[in-house]
Amino acid sequence: MEIRIENTKTPGVKVTENLGFGKHFTDHMFMMDYNVEKGWYDARIVPFGNLSLHPAATVFHYGAEIFEGLKAYRTADGSVQLFRPIENVRRMNNSAERLQLPTMPEEEMLQAITEFVKHEQDWVPYGAGESLYLRPFLFGNDEALGVHGIQNSRFVIIASPSGSYYKEGINPVKIMIEKDDVRAVRGGTGFAKCGGNYAAANRAGARAEEKGYTQVLWLDGVERKYIEEVGAMNVMFKIAGEVVTPMLSGSILPGITRKSCLELLREEGYKVSERLLSVDELLEACKNGTLEEAWGTGTAAVVSPIGKLSFDGVEYIVNNNEIGKTTQHLYDTLTGIQWGRVEDKHGWIVKI
Ligand code: PLP
Ligand code: COI
Repeated sequence: MEIRIENTKTPGVKVTENLGFGKHFTDHMFMMDYNVEKGWYDARIVPFGNLSLHPAATVFHYGAEIFEGLKAYRTADGSVQLFRPIENVRRMNNSAERLQLPTMPEEEMLQAITEFVKHEQDWVPYGAGESLYLRPFLFGNDEALGVHGIQNSRFVIIASPSGSYYKEGINPVKIMIEKDDVRAVRGGTGFAKCGGNYAAANRAGARAEEKGYTQVLWLDGVERKYIEEVGAMNVMFKIAGEVVTPMLSGSILPGITRKSCLELLREEGYKVSERLLSVDELLEACKNGTLEEAWGTGTAAVVSPIGKLSFDGVEYIVNNNEIGKTTQHLYDTLTGIQWGRVEDKHGWIVKI
């Protein structure tokens, strides 16, 4: 695939302190268009800027939008690397298939990501825990209001030099279990990374925030009984020595951090189970002291300890509101591999 490059004439100043998450952007973006007859065309790296779209564009009315999230890491020797980008490429194509947006050959999407990162590599930050967060996204771009198969789409990648996702950093976060709203149902779009899932989460998210909680923990959409995932991460619990995480039922996102943590834990001989976990079982474990640790996993959130869980107005403290041993171990191992401090025995790292 040929990528046309148009460099900016007004390079931006790199922020190096208090990066936050997703607030600053690099000088360029990757773009490519799709038409049902032409296929993918005009791959280009162009100056970062606003998109100009027709007011009837599909994405504004019928929500045809999917995205991905991955990071470029700066290693001690100054080089730049990605963590399992092929997993993001595959999930993007699965999401596209669910929304009937066009898929892209894996090697082409991977090339778009790697060449874009190469072009923007000076923007990968050097600070501890900082990285260049990459946000590929794809949306329907037909300029008409009829509801029909999507004929035109656009694929874009933007990049944001970022620090910690939560203001708490690696300190435990407070999570509210949601009783009323649901995020997704089996057969719906829960397993896809589409914007609509996050829009559906807004109301409960606002209620949680108002009460001082960081994010919402969702229950399944049918029985409202089983634990699913948090707004921006999957969840794991250590109950009586066993790591338990909700199984991939179709309504939760198959997280790449989740998959990596499960692989690491299993290799190390931890007892791990992917299964249905009811909120009653979880709260009982809170009450009888067998819930040893709780944490979330995600690209942005990394491995994030959960210190407080609330349900129906009652708050439960997990592990004294401190980071647990398994959580810390996973955080150290995973970030160690990502930043090149721990040997990559799995072939997860892609050097730029
Ligand atoms: N669940 C949701 C709803 C998310 O937004 C994310 C973040 O991407 C995750 C889980 C974790 O997925 P991953 O580990 O692939 O980043
Ligand atoms: C990520 O972890 O990459 C995500 O997409 C989470 C996002 C909603 C901030």
